Amino acid sequence: MAAETETKLNIWDAFWDLRIKECPCDVHFCDWLEKNKITNSSIFHFGTGGHHIVGIRTAENGSNNCVLGINASPQEYDTFVQLAIEKPQVEKTYKVFFGDIYQLEPRLLPMFDVVTLFHLCEFRDARNDAYKALTDRQVADLLTDHTRPGGYILFYTKSFAFDTAEKVIATWEKEKPVEKVGMYETLLVYRKKK
Ligand SMILES: C[S@@+](CC[C@H](N)C(=O)[O-])C[C@H]1O[C@@H](n2cnc3c(N)ncnc32)[C@H](O)[C@@H]1O
Repeated sequence: MAAETETKLNIWDAFWDLRIKECPCDVHFCDWLEKNKITNSSIFHFGTGGHHIVGIRTAENGSNNCVLGINASPQEYDTFVQLAIEKPQVEKTYKVFFGDIYQLEPRLLPMFDVVTLFHLCEFRDARNDAYKALTDRQVADLLTDHTRPGGYILFYTKSFAFDTAEKVIATWEKEKPVEKVGMYETLLVYRKKK
């Protein structure tokens, strides 16, 4: 009898430490939050890396923002566990879960004030198809539906997949209740209509 083919989760079997020159999106995002005086807000962050700068800076800058981050790297997730143990004051407002963003379950998601989609179109491939995961557009739509009116959705224009993401964004902005705010450094900022 032929062995059953196992479909495994399409994880990101790598570790990303802070590399500001190569990938400044998280630092630009922290700067944007501070510059725009965004406080007391809930943030969904796609791709925490193993450095967790968004969660740490948010917890330490007095903004009272809170962050739910996702990564698909067991190694990065381990660093969150260590961070949480060592810095309970950060863990209070910063939660990370391990998983594939293309498997987001709407019933488990609250509404957010700010959503980052920096890595849209970077990681999804045939392995996600194998378990009928969401598409990039579906992830964008789902998180838009979970953004409060007046809230923000941000993309990263220096992403290696931005040429693909741009096409998704072009139809998304026509079909969803969003409006372009403009650029901040490398980030493209949209607002959900009120
Ligand atoms: C290149 S790293 C960038 C990390 C961070 N945003 C930065 O710029 O420093 C990409 C991030 O996306 C996460 N990632 C990759 N595939 C993912 C998926 N399917 N679902 C959720 N996160 C994923 C990785 O675990 C990693 O944290």
